[in-house]
Amino acid sequence: MSEIDVIGLAAPGIRKLHPYQPGKPIDELQRELGLSHIVKLASNENPLGASGKAVEAAAGALGDIHLYPDDDGYRLRQALAQQLGVAPQQLVLGSGSSDVIDMVARSFLRHGVNAVYSAHAFAMYAIYTQACGAESKVAPALPADHPDSPLGHDLTAMADRVDENTRVVFIANPNNPTGTWLPRGALKAFLSGLPEDVIVVLDEAYTEYVSEPEFPDGLRWLSEFPNLIVTRTFSKIHGLAGLRVGYGVASAALAGLISRVRHPFNVNSAAQAAAVAALGDTGHVAKSVENNLQGMRQLVAGCEALGLRYIPSVGNFLSIDMGRDAAPLFDALLREGVIVRPVANYGMPQYLRVTIGLPEENAFFLEALKKVL
Ligand SMILES: Cc1ncc(COP(=O)(O)O)c(C=O)c1O
Repeated sequence: MSEIDVIGLAAPGIRKLHPYQPGKPIDELQRELGLSHIVKLASNENPLGASGKAVEAAAGALGDIHLYPDDDGYRLRQALAQQLGVAPQQLVLGSGSSDVIDMVARSFLRHGVNAVYSAHAFAMYAIYTQACGAESKVAPALPADHPDSPLGHDLTAMADRVDENTRVVFIANPNNPTGTWLPRGALKAFLSGLPEDVIVVLDEAYTEYVSEPEFPDGLRWLSEFPNLIVTRTFSKIHGLAGLRVGYGVASAALAGLISRVRHPFNVNSAAQAAAVAALGDTGHVAKSVENNLQGMRQLVAGCEALGLRYIPSVGNFLSIDMGRDAAPLFDALLREGVIVRPVANYGMPQYLRVTIGLPEENAFFLEALKKVL
């Protein structure tokens, strides 16, 4: 059979697409280096794991895995609606919140229009935009020496990038990998200044970790901005990254529209059951927030002791400035049994992003870092 040029056949956006680079799995490092003790602080997962109630609920769902899941996600949508104070029709469930972000991209982006987002923003915005054949208009971020928000979203620069062909604006609050955040007043002013026909994705994947008094809850703005969709996830604070479940909240009209491109049965039955149970376990959420707070203090103190600069973060991760190309340090840390995340693909080649772990994991990382420096 003769070979065909499959790349040449691909849609233009796909031809040059660089896929998402996930954190290195523990198994892979074990196979490569034969290390026995490995600490993975690379994918902003919850080091406490999931709530025991969620694990039990997922296990309980396994007896029915020969059946398709509830496509409507009735119980999960009811539970979310009640907890968030919205109507079930305002919710779109996703296989992770990235699935919902993809649904927005596929609903509104195509060749000839553009999406606006910040430099150093979550990597999937660029990938989904490009996959749809749309143009990315990347706004420069705030400078690295900005006093409050180094490399954070610059809302003025973002507003400047919006033109008559802009269909979507992506905002991560807080942003990954910078951990920077936007206060209520500035973000609301930005939303008010946008044309009504621009859809805004406000990505709140890490919102539960944030305790800043000026940090906004995007859900409060939904009645005022019918062009707004807030996305959240069970992957982070709820520790369900492996089951893939997240959601978007918007006006019923916008939620209904993007649901047209939702893959059938996109949230599996174990994920739905676990997510309902996780929502009910507020004790686990509180414990996870507390572990994060203590761990952040531990990592920040460790960086200061090593004379390293870092970006002050309100998420469950910290991006540390190594003051030089971070790639060799990433490799050296692997050999010490520590997996962190290089962020050169985010335009931050000097930084390593470290997820807040358990106290002993943070200590293991800091020891290894000291050694490799
Ligand atoms: C800012 C941000 N948004 C969205 C996601 C997507 O998470 P998930 O698809 O697991 O919900 C992540 C994951 O790392 C993230 O950092």
